[in-house]
Amino acid sequence: MSQASPNQPDSSPRPAEIRRSARAHFDKWALRYDRSRLNELVFFPAIRACQEEITRWQALRGGGPFRLLDVGCGTGTLINLLARRADAELLVGLDYSPVMARHLTEKIAQSPQAAKLHALVGDSEHLPFADETFDVVTCCNSFHHYPHQAAVVRGFHRVLRPGGLLVLVDGFRDNVVGWVIFDVAVAMVEKKVHHAAWSEIRDLIQAAGFSTLRQRKMNVLAPLLVNVARR
Ligand SMILES: C[S@@+](CC[C@H](N)C(=O)[O-])C[C@H]1O[C@@H](n2cnc3c(N)ncnc32)[C@H](O)[C@@H]1O
Repeated sequence: MSQASPNQPDSSPRPAEIRRSARAHFDKWALRYDRSRLNELVFFPAIRACQEEITRWQALRGGGPFRLLDVGCGTGTLINLLARRADAELLVGLDYSPVMARHLTEKIAQSPQAAKLHALVGDSEHLPFADETFDVVTCCNSFHHYPHQAAVVRGFHRVLRPGGLLVLVDGFRDNVVGWVIFDVAVAMVEKKVHHAAWSEIRDLIQAAGFSTLRQRKMNVLAPLLVNVARR
């Protein structure tokens, strides 16, 4: 397992190499991504967990329109599903792979809800939005690609409004099954990735200033860690 130190300066070659590696991997995969068996097995359950957490959060706050940013959105499965909800006012998907973002742009053009959907190419660590722009930030199956995970979580906190919701779902690597899948098998394929431990993610979220945090393990084909925080 490889991970740049959270304190490594951004100008060092390693984080750039990690981002390049992720971009190359997903640029290549993008056009086949929606047909991948991994969707049913791993990615869709993570996306469903995000939908459920948003519904729960909406019930707790009494509803109302919300603006959502999905970081590492891929082909935009989550924001396309959420677009059917009347309370979803603005849904922005950001991804570092231009091919993924282009694919999402094409899907948006075909969507009856195109007016509220937006695709952007960008890096999770440098979110191009003003402070407190969003009510919800989601990040599914992507966090392990980020070279500076602490900085990314601080960015999530910055762009969320007070009371806003963060749902971060990624591989759970704190038991033997998860360790074999994520730290051994996925790391062999994706190379420069880091599946943070349960406690590491807890510390990052708390250090960024989130007021509440709930963490749970979900068992699908591979175990997933669902982190739900309120700003
Ligand atoms: C496995 S896909 C998950 C896509 C989508 N969230 C889903 O669950 O189907 C991981 C995505 O993270 C994106 N990604 C990797 N590094 C990134 C970064 N530094 N900033 C933004 N997106 C990144 C990849 O391009 C890829 O589309």
